[in-house]
Amino acid sequence: MCGIVGYVGQKTTMDVLLGGLKRQEYRGYDSAGVALITEDGLIASAKKSGKLQALVDEVTAHPLAPGHTGIGHTRWATHGAPSDVNAHPHVVDGGKLAMIHNGIIENFAEIREEMLEAGHTFLSETDTEVGAVLLGHLVEQTGDFRTGFAQAVNRFQGAFTVLAIHQDAPNVILAARHNSPLVIGFGDGENFLGSDVAAFVEHTHRAAAVGQDQMVEITPEHVRVTDFAGTPVPIDEFEIAWDASASDKGGWPSFMAKEITENPDAVANTVRGRVVDGRVEIPELSGLGEDAIRKFSRIILVACGTASYAGQVGAYAIEQWARIPVEVQLSHEFRYRDPVITPETLVVSISQSGETMDTLMAVRYAMERGAKTVSICNTQGATIPRESDAIVYTHAGPEVAVASTKAFVAQITALYLLGLQFAQVRGTLDDTAIARNIAELQALPGKLEEVLTTGPEIRQLAKWMSDTPAVLFLGRHVGFPIALEGALKLKELAYIHAEGFAAGELKHGPIALIDHGQPVFVVVPSPRESAEIHSKVVSNIQEIRARGARVIAIAEAGDAAVLPYADEVIRIPLAGPFFEPILAVVPLQIFAMELADAKGLDVDQPRNLAKSVTVE
Ligand code: F6R
Repeated sequence: MCGIVGYVGQKTTMDVLLGGLKRQEYRGYDSAGVALITEDGLIASAKKSGKLQALVDEVTAHPLAPGHTGIGHTRWATHGAPSDVNAHPHVVDGGKLAMIHNGIIENFAEIREEMLEAGHTFLSETDTEVGAVLLGHLVEQTGDFRTGFAQAVNRFQGAFTVLAIHQDAPNVILAARHNSPLVIGFGDGENFLGSDVAAFVEHTHRAAAVGQDQMVEITPEHVRVTDFAGTPVPIDEFEIAWDASASDKGGWPSFMAKEITENPDAVANTVRGRVVDGRVEIPELSGLGEDAIRKFSRIILVACGTASYAGQVGAYAIEQWARIPVEVQLSHEFRYRDPVITPETLVVSISQSGETMDTLMAVRYAMERGAKTVSICNTQGATIPRESDAIVYTHAGPEVAVASTKAFVAQITALYLLGLQFAQVRGTLDDTAIARNIAELQALPGKLEEVLTTGPEIRQLAKWMSDTPAVLFLGRHVGFPIALEGALKLKELAYIHAEGFAAGELKHGPIALIDHGQPVFVVVPSPRESAEIHSKVVSNIQEIRARGARVIAIAEAGDAAVLPYADEVIRIPLAGPFFEPILAVVPLQIFAMELADAKGLDVDQPRNLAKSVTVE
């Protein structure tokens, strides 16, 4: 939700800001803006509603005077509709000060009243402008940018990352964060700020995450971090593992197309280095201690959206392998059910961004009640991993398309690794079973490459179906969350009504939806590995076919039982029962992308969405 970038240095500031916004546009894309302090010491700014390109066109047509200190913002609207006036930066105090903000200033109404009484006026409907006016007011009152800034952030409540520049301090950016992300990038004679490292990875690989309730001052020469009382705090620098080119399209028509083809690498890189002498060894889990792993009596997986479906797949495997009851809770529901948590409860959060506010709050809630927490995350230095007891990073590389694809398969891979390590420690799987599952994991990248070759066939199918109003998805066991994920991808990318069901649930209501020509994707389990549920799913296919459904089966190579009843069969390579869903999801990802493309939609930036959901 909103991407932020800040730069102080000798490069062309506008290029750095627009580049940083481009790489963070997935965080919000309903308006964008920049402000800089020009070489004449004045604030210049530009902002436009619509995608970043509208701002690029604006500053190309009407270039701002050059400067060496600047801030930029790409917005996902919370308070106030997406419009030019509501876009950030908000320039106040007679044009002397500019501020950008990610989050929600919850006490904005009270501050607004106070500022109106003090004689200030407002142009926009946003909480951010209220914050900026307060900041300007306090800077005027105290006569000092830094003092005024510290006082203002101590007044804000809610979730915020704010960056501000003032023409009286031409080489300085001040920033602060509470419940919203902020990272620093360290350069040589230049420094950067961003919502995540994508903002500046093309310029530097040296970064540090700013902790909760901390303020930062950057100039070209120094970076200073303090708490909200102004006491200096140490900076914990890390090396960004991502390559800048990894967050470019690299010749693909969309980030989504690129990221789907990166599914094999996402799995391979997540497994890499975590299998040693035929055993799973995730060094990051060692902090939990083997004793604790033996004693865990319950695992709760918390996540939202696609990540929660990865959790649902993982839950089947972890429970079966490690013999621990595992449940999946949507992060935003978790706290409100007053869950039973004991010191023997392990809460595993799953989050690509590591910033999803609902998931962060679930993790904090679990920790306060004495649970141990593990974060499965794809983004270095993000808040959720930083606050958890242990981190298992998925090494899927940057995921820029708003809808998640490769991170999903990497999340399942990480959950499987965790399940296998727990099974080893608890002695619930013998060596042969461990070795078989490891071999399955290691074979997945090659099989995913094979699945990717079905792309043209699926593109054709999507073209034929481009005017379909609704699609249903069925699956059973681990195929059920895959059906849910297939439906979610289609909803968010192609804006088509789509529902996923457990195939066994069909007769309990959803079969009433089946009418002549209704397309239904069915994730068919393996007849070799899961004979019992395979025959049940084939019966379900017959039932819907008899009622006119158009069946598209995703079935393993050689499964002939589906042929008489399926209108289309998409083949996936043979794999163990827990591993087929990782293969089956890829045709569904491709289908959603191709159908959206056939409808002329933007597959990378679907309407109304943002990738990092940092508000509750
Ligand atoms: C759907 C999608 C979302 C995210 C969800 C959680 O394609 O991407 O459903 O999975 O918002 O996001 P993270 O994983 O960043 O916590």
